[in-house]
Amino acid sequence: MRTRPLKVALLGCGVVGSEVARIMTTHADDLTARIGAPVELAGVAVRRPSKVREGIDPALITTDATALLKRGDIDVAIEVIGGIEPARTLITTAFENGISVVSANKALLAQDGAALHAAAETHGLDLYYEAAVAGAIPLVRPMRESLAGDKINRVMGIVNGTTNFILDKMDSTGAGYQEALDEATALGYAEADPTADVEGYDAAAKAAILAGIAFHTRVRLDDVYREGMTEVSAADFASAKRMGCTIKLLAILERAADGESVTARVHPAMIPLTHPLASVREAYNAVFVEAEAAGRLMFYGPGAGGAPTASAVLGDLVAICRNKLAEATGPGESAYTQLPVSPMGDVVTRYHISLDVADKPGVLAQVATTFAEHGVSIDTVRQQGKDGEASLVVVTHRAPDAALSGTVEALRKLDTVRGVASIMRVEGE
Ligand code: NDP
Ligand code: HSE
Repeated sequence: MRTRPLKVALLGCGVVGSEVARIMTTHADDLTARIGAPVELAGVAVRRPSKVREGIDPALITTDATALLKRGDIDVAIEVIGGIEPARTLITTAFENGISVVSANKALLAQDGAALHAAAETHGLDLYYEAAVAGAIPLVRPMRESLAGDKINRVMGIVNGTTNFILDKMDSTGAGYQEALDEATALGYAEADPTADVEGYDAAAKAAILAGIAFHTRVRLDDVYREGMTEVSAADFASAKRMGCTIKLLAILERAADGESVTARVHPAMIPLTHPLASVREAYNAVFVEAEAAGRLMFYGPGAGGAPTASAVLGDLVAICRNKLAEATGPGESAYTQLPVSPMGDVVTRYHISLDVADKPGVLAQVATTFAEHGVSIDTVRQQGKDGEASLVVVTHRAPDAALSGTVEALRKLDTVRGVASIMRVEGE
């Protein structure tokens, strides 16, 4: 057992960082035994130095994160500041100073993961980020290491807890979007500005990271098709219920059937109540991974929160410290397949389309013809009349997204179609 401690710089001490510091202190003996050397919190960089931070020696607090990284004795940096800058510059500075990095920063990794991986590799250091996707759930390391001998073809998951909480409330109570969002905010799930969650940016960042790992290629945030869930209505849930479905905000990553390309997307979708993801309630996350040899695997657990996220950060810290003692590094970026990311138009799936139409002879035939002209096959049609108007719900067979978009565009132009009330993809069948 080495007695000289491995020194850790904690960059950020908020929701996640404060829990990292607490667990490092309370579990110090266990961490020492598991690593084979003591780990010492050598400095904590924050923005507001005067804030009282329970359990942290005030002498460790600094506002100069760069100086902390450059002082010459730090072995590992834990970046839990979030956002692009100064996190990106600080991680780069860490590598330039021989320091391996744990980060929970999905936004940064989705945007600049390739450059950060390259910097880590150039300096012979580790970059670990288990906490960046689905909080406490071990997912990045199982996909990167445990499944390294298999071929992942599809990943489908709920990777944002806030939106799952909102959708679950809408489903279970009949609440509208705003009412459910207000409850999520009051309970501390949704932030004051919920845009990153409800518009799908947070899930899209996680999708980009997972797609890169799953398919050994590079997928950037901009490559991920994204639709938020703010338009999902109580009527959509009622319609989903009639089909034996619920609605989830899903991240779906697929390898094309010919293996020559991949797709990555985030959007709300109906899934059957019998699908395992349908039973993921409240703010939990779950990810379904389909691999050629392993078959279907499901990873489930808390996707956010201080302590759960700190658990993933500390797992990475232990792994990096073990690597350091063994004078080795863990797996770096694996992007050798260089598969292109296809546009959303190429995605093939099923659709649930709700139309408001005139209730008169020939309308149904006109609508059906429009679907046929665009090569979209109808599975079921349900019509409900009300005072000369009717609501028409069409569920299609599998069709390319581009064909469906063309259909909807043509439907909107029909005099008899008063409006397209909602379009939702149907997944998981
Ligand atoms: P917080 O906003 O709670 O904490 C951010 C911390 O960074 C604060 O301690 C803040 O200092 C510090 N900070 C901000 N700017 C600077 C700066 N320029 N220099 C030094 N320190 C700075 O964020 P979270 O803990 O919630 O999130 C941290 C990371 O973890 C993010 O990347 C997030 O996406 C990720 N994450 C978070 C999860 C969660 O449930 N919260 C779940 C999974 C991932 P001060 O305390 O003085 O304000
Ligand atoms: N805002 C994110 C969520 C936090 O709701 O899942 C975890 O990344």
